[in-house]
Amino acid sequence: MLWVLPHYIDVGNFLHAMHKVPHPYSGALPIHAKNGREWGPENAPSLTGIRDDDRLGGYLTAFRLPHRRKVFASPSTKLSSLSTEVESRKEAIMEKLKGKTAVITGATSGMALATAKRFVEEGAYVFITGRRQQPLDEAVKAIGKNVTGVQGDAGSLADLDRLYETVKNKKGSIDILYASAGIGDFNVPLGSITETVFDNTFNVNVRGTLFTVQKALPLMRDGGSIIMTGSIASVKGFPGMSVYNASKAAVRSFARTWTMDLKSRKIRVNVLSPGSIDTGVFVGISGELRDQFISLIPMGRIGESSEIAAAALFLASDDSSFITGIELFVDGGTAQI
Ligand SMILES: NC(=O)c1ccc[n+]([C@@H]2O[C@H](COP(=O)([O-])OP(=O)(O)OC[C@H]3O[C@@H](n4cnc5c(N)ncnc54)[C@H](OP(=O)(O)O)[C@@H]3O)[C@@H](O)[C@H]2O)c1
Repeated sequence: MLWVLPHYIDVGNFLHAMHKVPHPYSGALPIHAKNGREWGPENAPSLTGIRDDDRLGGYLTAFRLPHRRKVFASPSTKLSSLSTEVESRKEAIMEKLKGKTAVITGATSGMALATAKRFVEEGAYVFITGRRQQPLDEAVKAIGKNVTGVQGDAGSLADLDRLYETVKNKKGSIDILYASAGIGDFNVPLGSITETVFDNTFNVNVRGTLFTVQKALPLMRDGGSIIMTGSIASVKGFPGMSVYNASKAAVRSFARTWTMDLKSRKIRVNVLSPGSIDTGVFVGISGELRDQFISLIPMGRIGESSEIAAAALFLASDDSSFITGIELFVDGGTAQI
């Protein structure tokens, strides 16, 4: 669906009509529109998140775009210049990872899927993995373009070889590696830990992460970025979770040493450690347990996958060009107090 604006529009009324929201502006805001300028769902301005200080004397002074970037418009702003700014903003959004190739493991749902979508929006080509073919196919479809799905288990060295063979044949090199696949058992206090719990967890989270990175090195471009998913568990003593907690502490340790091991290649290595994020791990848990998790979070809410994707984009892009060896917590403050 496309909206075609006339030469002059009342922005308040236009947005009101488009979004079926109460008209919040008392005065009309005449701004110029380029004749025949088409606004589609992709580039249409949205009222989402407009704050009071975005309004001036009852006039709209800022739009929010779908990507939540803000575009300012004064009452005298011409829509033609506004649309140029919109386009250049969109261009800027698209360019952070333009031409980059990214590999993201365990990315058929949750945070890594949100990150894969974000990376593609920012111009990257992504390879994603997951153990199950059907969710993988669905994820590829959801991402829509510039993506290849490679079925595989991050704990299987043969599957990792197959992944990198595919990447090599299709793209030849990797700029960004995000080793995100991880698993955990969350109710296994000392005294009840079995070999299976230990082996499964360490096989994916520690051994899998190590070989995901090591096997990528021949394809990694010098100056590339490696991100690994840790957890606030790496620095907390959550009861019943010692195996998982220790596995994430190992990942954090890897980042310190590999920062040095890969120094000569200028490859940055960082850990992105989420707090409680609303993904598959929270599906099916009781409201009571969910409330318990929330009570530990200073910000008083569970995080969103998109908030992890934003942090991953930061670590993947040149925005973090002087940052290596860190553990970036995205946890609403949980592990910081
Ligand atoms: N959600 C949180 O609150 C939270 C907090 C801290 C850290 N983390 C960490 O964040 C990462 C992802 O968590 P999430 O919450 O986004 O999980 P999720 O929504 O359950 O997604 C997990 C993804 O990883 C895939 N996967 C699982 N094991 C795999 C393996 N061995 N090899 C390849 N792919 C595998 C899954 O697909 P298949 O099942 O088809 O393989 C799925 O695509 C994990 O490392 C987890 O430890 C999560």
